Formats: sequence, C-alpha cells, structure tokens
Amino acid sequence: MHFRKLSNSLGAEVVGFRITADCAPDDLAGIRQAFAQYQVLLFRDQDISFDTHIAFSRKFGPLEQHDAIPEYRHPDHPELIVVTNEGKERSKVFGQQWHSDHSMTLRPSMASLLHAHVIPEVGGDTMFANMYEAYDTLSDGMKRLLAPMRAVHTVIAAKHLRGLDEKTLAAKARNNPPVVHPVVRIHPVTGRPALYVNEMLTSHFEGMTVAESQPLLQYLFAHSTRSESVYRHQWRKHDVLMWDNRCTMHLALMDYDHQQLRRLFRTTLEGDCAGEYLDAAATAAATATATATATA
Ligand code: SIN
Repeated sequence: MHFRKLSNSLGAEVVGFRITADCAPDDLAGIRQAFAQYQVLLFRDQDISFDTHIAFSRKFGPLEQHDAIPEYRHPDHPELIVVTNEGKERSKVFGQQWHSDHSMTLRPSMASLLHAHVIPEVGGDTMFANMYEAYDTLSDGMKRLLAPMRAVHTVIAAKHLRGLDEKTLAAKARNNPPVVHPVVRIHPVTGRPALYVNEMLTSHFEGMTVAESQPLLQYLFAHSTRSESVYRHQWRKHDVLMWDNRCTMHLALMDYDHQQLRRLFRTTLEGDCAGEYLDAAATAAATATATATATA
C-alpha cells in the first residue's frame, strides 16, 4: 500500500489496498496516519457491499445512526445515508453548498466515507477545501479577532431547504436546535487549528445579528475555498472517499445532467467534540431569523 497525492493542498489516493471487513492492523495504522496527513483519502475500484462499507468505517470509530437527518437514512441500514438526486428537484439535492457534515449538531461528525454506486456520464464532482490552510493563511490580526469567537450553526440555514413551509421547518428546528461551535477548532489528532464555519449551516456569530455577521462570514467562506486550497474529485463507479470533517469542507457540484442518476451511500463517524445549545431566547431568535430567510 502507498499514497499518491491528489492535489497540492489536500487528498491522497490509497494505492494497493482493498477494503474488507477485516483489515490488517498495520494497514489501518497506515491509513489513519495518512488520513491525518492528507485529510481526504480516495480508494479506487472498491466493489463492496453495504456490510463491508459499514464494517470498514467502524474501524475508525462509532458510526452515527443519522438521527439528525432521518429522511436520508437507508431503510435497512441506519448507518448509511442515501445521497441521490433521484426523485428530487435539482435545487433540493443535498450538499450543494460548502459544508462540514453535521456541524448543525452538538457532536458534529468527525469523518465520512462515501461510496459511489451510480454516477452520471460526466460531472457530479465533489470539491474539498483544506480548513487548516484557510486558517493558516489569515493575517495575525484576523486570527486574533476570530480566536474567542463562536458561531451558530442551524440546519434551516441550508439552501436546499428553502421553500419548505413553516411547519416543516419548525419540526426540523425542533429535531436539530441551533448549536454554537468555536470559529477555530483544534484538531484532536494533529493539534492544528482549523477554521470551522461553512456557508450551508453557519448562520451568524454568537452575540451578533445575521446581518452584522454576513460580511465577515462571506469573507471567510470565500477565503476558505480559494482554488489553491481545494481538491476537485471526479467520481468513478466504486470510488470510496473518506474525509475529515474537522479540517475540511466539501461541496457537491450540480455540474451534471439531472435526468441522469447519481447515487452514493455514506457512513458518518461520530464526532469527538461537543458544541452547546443556545439559551431559549437565542434559540427562538436564531430559528425565527433562519425560518424567515428560508420561507422568503
Ligand atoms: C455529502 O455532502 O456528503 C454529499 C457529497 C456529494 O454528494 O458529493
């Protein structure tokens, strides 16, 4: 087994390794080390079953049962979500804004493993951004400003939920009340700081309004996704991609013919950091503002 870099900033292909339910401990140790180094790992040509996908993912930690997003859960395998455009309007397809998986929950996911079953003839790429680099390339003044700040993440800020009625949004907000996370997170394995705000789920900074927060948030989103800090993955059938949600963001591009099927399956590893709920008044205010935007 060896590793081949996928871009200058992040990502590596794992060459000479076959995913099985029982991997050799030495191989797993090598993969863990490479994961910490490259943040995104690609395994090509892995024609694996759901059970193998789940068993291999479990080698890296406990898996989520996807309670935050039950509508995507596989009916027979709660450890999997179905990532597909099937039966969905184009604008409602999940993941088409930059995000880090489940940042809107108290314990955001630490990693995700996505297996491509059906991909369109061309396009349907996924992009990844290096959030260590996003932080490292800020000025010292900006780093000092961000150090004490926390940001609010809420599921109903997501663009693919726009247009839903107030009742449905309220139910989603009840299932996933807004949470607050530090704007800069320290990665528990590498000890490196990474920027932790994303355009899909971060609505505003704690103690500020949405309007006040937007200029700085928009700057940080654009800064994080400069071309030099990004890897663009062109899927092949039976690719497995594993990414670290603590130090990357990703984006599902809609650069394909929506008449063609795109279907992938994802396991999501439980997170290792805890956010906090807002107090009742701040929860109500954050939910009301996000709902007003979503229903406008
Ligand atoms: C996801 O956000 O997990 C889905 C990414 C994709 O559809 O490419």
